[in-house]
Amino acid sequence: PGDKSVSHRALLFGALSTGETRVTGLLDAEDVHSTRKAVEALGATVRTEGGEVVVTPPEKLREPADVIDCGNSGTSLRLLTGVLSGVPGLSVLTGDASLRKRPVRRVIDPLRRMGADLSARDGDRLPPVVVRGGPLRGARHVLEVASAQVKSACLLAGLFAEGETSVTEPERSRDHTERMLRGMGVPVRTDGLTVAVGPSRPRGGRVDVPGDISSAAFFLCGAAALPGSEVTVRGLGTNPTRTGLLDVLRAMGAKVEVANEREVAGEPRADVTVRAAELRGTEIRGRIIPRLIDELPMVMALATQARGRTVIRDAKELRVKESDRLAAMGETLAAAGAQIELFEDGCAIEGATRLRGVTVRTRLDHRIAMSMAIAQLFTRGAEVVLDDVACVATSFPSFFRLLDGLAGGRR
Ligand code: S3P
Repeated sequence: PGDKSVSHRALLFGALSTGETRVTGLLDAEDVHSTRKAVEALGATVRTEGGEVVVTPPEKLREPADVIDCGNSGTSLRLLTGVLSGVPGLSVLTGDASLRKRPVRRVIDPLRRMGADLSARDGDRLPPVVVRGGPLRGARHVLEVASAQVKSACLLAGLFAEGETSVTEPERSRDHTERMLRGMGVPVRTDGLTVAVGPSRPRGGRVDVPGDISSAAFFLCGAAALPGSEVTVRGLGTNPTRTGLLDVLRAMGAKVEVANEREVAGEPRADVTVRAAELRGTEIRGRIIPRLIDELPMVMALATQARGRTVIRDAKELRVKESDRLAAMGETLAAAGAQIELFEDGCAIEGATRLRGVTVRTRLDHRIAMSMAIAQLFTRGAEVVLDDVACVATSFPSFFRLLDGLAGGRR
């Protein structure tokens, strides 16, 4: 499936533009449907024409007539908070039970420094978020955590603000916003870990969405651990801010081949093949963390199949994703017989272990469900029961069909 981060941005930036945007490869999944409904509520029209999704922006974004429900999607909620700060009128953004537990102060604080009028539940900590859009002024933001959602919210507000808006991150997070805005004609200045924009309106254009490495990760990790396996993913997004998993797979001893590298619409892509090998433990910490943050639940499961110790540190952000992913994977893998020790910012896993069957509480978190569906293959035939699989539709509706096709015989 198409990359989720790029898909959200294609719809949202298309809705802000002066002209039409034509998107190929858009992810057809619930999180992206949430962004689509939101931009429609702001006056954009989104239609499918042949194999393309066409976004026609309104003359000016308008005040939504109702609460905007972002479902399970943190990216929708945080990026929209940035945009709506600059749109005159009142907006209320909410989401499902998982999203309503996720922190929003990280966008509220910097946007307020630009003059935005925002409030949220529980002392401005949690959604719903109320935005009263109005005039904004540029600001220089120095972020405490590397977050593409926060960076993007600030830059998007910056498009509506007077003067320059810059964001400096402690480590580089995914840069899809910078790349797509540039592709749509917005001058974006980058200097080391700082990105800056001025008042500007994108002009729209063409977006060709690459394959999502965060979705491919489940099959790539399955292939790495299961003797005799090989998986090739064609047209996979290989933006260097996203490819930490490939580095980790190599460090663990898996065979990773990257072929046919090219750049399409400003985003690198390639055909990636992973072959099984004897895996060994590795250390994952520091700068690589934002480059594989969404893949870490799967990497935790994979590490149970590697000989020796795998250590993950500096990954406290995992605790504020669709669920507390460190706790969710830690408890689940321990119940499946893994040797795992949890830290506030990571874990240590000692392998290799043949996992046992387990019942998984998926906590409205698609990546917990899919990681444990792959981990079932590491049990060599035991039963892994997922209490809810509807969450998988947020990013990868065809996951189980694909899993049956690739690994049906192994279960
Ligand atoms: C995303 C950024 C990441 C990632 C999320 C999608 C994005 O979160 O975990 O799934 O599309 O910008 P951060 O804001 O923590 O970087």
